Amino acid sequence: MLKIDFQNTDIQKVGPKQGLNLKQVWTEHRSQMATIIKNTYATKNTDGAWTKWLNLGYDKQLASDIEAYAKSVKGRYSDMVILGIGGSSLGGYALLRALLHPYWNQLSDEQRDGRPRYYFVENVDADQVQPLLSILNPERTLFVVISKSGTTAETMAAFMIAKDWLETKLPADKVAEKIVAVTDAKTGVLRPVADKEGYQTFPVPDDVGGRFSVFSAVGLLPAALGGISLSELQRGIQDIDKVLQNENLEENPAAQAALIHYLSCQQGRDLAVFMPYSYRLASVSDWFVQLWAESLGKKENLKGDVVHVGPTPVRAVGVTDQHSQVQLFNEGPNNKLFTFIDVLAPETDIKIPTNQFSDVPDLSYLNGQPLSKLMQAEFESTRACLTGNQRPNMTITLSKVDAYHFAQLLYLLEVQTAFAGCLLEIDTFNQPGVELAKKYTYALMGRKGYEQLIPEAKGEKTPVLK
Ligand code: PA5
Repeated sequence: MLKIDFQNTDIQKVGPKQGLNLKQVWTEHRSQMATIIKNTYATKNTDGAWTKWLNLGYDKQLASDIEAYAKSVKGRYSDMVILGIGGSSLGGYALLRALLHPYWNQLSDEQRDGRPRYYFVENVDADQVQPLLSILNPERTLFVVISKSGTTAETMAAFMIAKDWLETKLPADKVAEKIVAVTDAKTGVLRPVADKEGYQTFPVPDDVGGRFSVFSAVGLLPAALGGISLSELQRGIQDIDKVLQNENLEENPAAQAALIHYLSCQQGRDLAVFMPYSYRLASVSDWFVQLWAESLGKKENLKGDVVHVGPTPVRAVGVTDQHSQVQLFNEGPNNKLFTFIDVLAPETDIKIPTNQFSDVPDLSYLNGQPLSKLMQAEFESTRACLTGNQRPNMTITLSKVDAYHFAQLLYLLEVQTAFAGCLLEIDTFNQPGVELAKKYTYALMGRKGYEQLIPEAKGEKTPVLK
């Protein structure tokens, strides 16, 4: 099971001005957090509460359907292209990046055991799309289009291009089998298209929003196609879920983390730096940034008052960012709460050779030392400096990066986000702040019904924002 260490947020470590008196915090907020935990889990089967993602780790049928499909196409495709954006792509990418070989796409077909290379098209930049199509073999490429709504312009534009590309390269009766769609089970624009064209489909369940959908088919399908064990992912979730349902604050790390973030924000520390010390986990930062930002950055609270709340997530990766952002982290404004991810045992290790530069004292201290030891030393040193500079930080420790622990990490962060939203008294599961720009794009692209927005979209008229 993964562990979280909060002690570097305590006044004893970072001083009374910057820290929290954790003992007091746990006592004062015990009953409030017990209610939040209880209420959050109580809604997990409630229509319209958008918390049905809490059930995904138990959906054995979904996992076995997806694994059966992945098995049926094993060996048939050398490449898969995942078309999706935001919550429909970041989780799947983080999963594959963490759990497959770090240079998966460079491996041979045999080394990949007949599983496809993977590409995520999450932008509408022709410079991403066109060069990718130019290197693919239409006979051996599977397109996975993921959109809950089916109206997302970026995803659907890329899908239209991909479908057309297949249609120009393959006989008409060979196109549908090269496409699999993940979309709403009943509604949306992609569902009738998929049904009409005869695509294999998997559902995004009701009341599961994009950024909480990584353990639905949205993330599980790419994972299974890459050969990742879905049962191990689900086992990890089920084990940590027992801990996260515990209404005792002092035994519930998601509730403790949410509370520390909330109280830190109230102290003016409203930047949340997420920094895994792991190459495999680097993309978890991108996934977390979306989860935290889109869920918690809100103008109105549940009562409709204008509050403009939300900590700003900051993506960082150790050790790389020690030579980039850490100067600012140590000496810049003390307005950040740090979350480190520490991995005790990397999948592979390598010793720095003993015969290299052994006569150069400034380098010979490295001789014979494992690279993992250097990574760990750099992590501990950076954390010690930040703590010494009175910069509150917490550490999530994974014994290793495997499906079991990886699922626990993501699930913990999802539950933490839901609890933080309750503390902020906002709607964690909507995203009204992205709607207007979407409408402007429709107007500029000539979608019917949006003509009156063209002057605003062009900046010729000041929008009247509510
Ligand atoms: O988290 C969210 O809700 C969003 O990021 C969506 O996932 C994103 O906008 C893509 O939506 P859709 O799956 O409908 O294409």
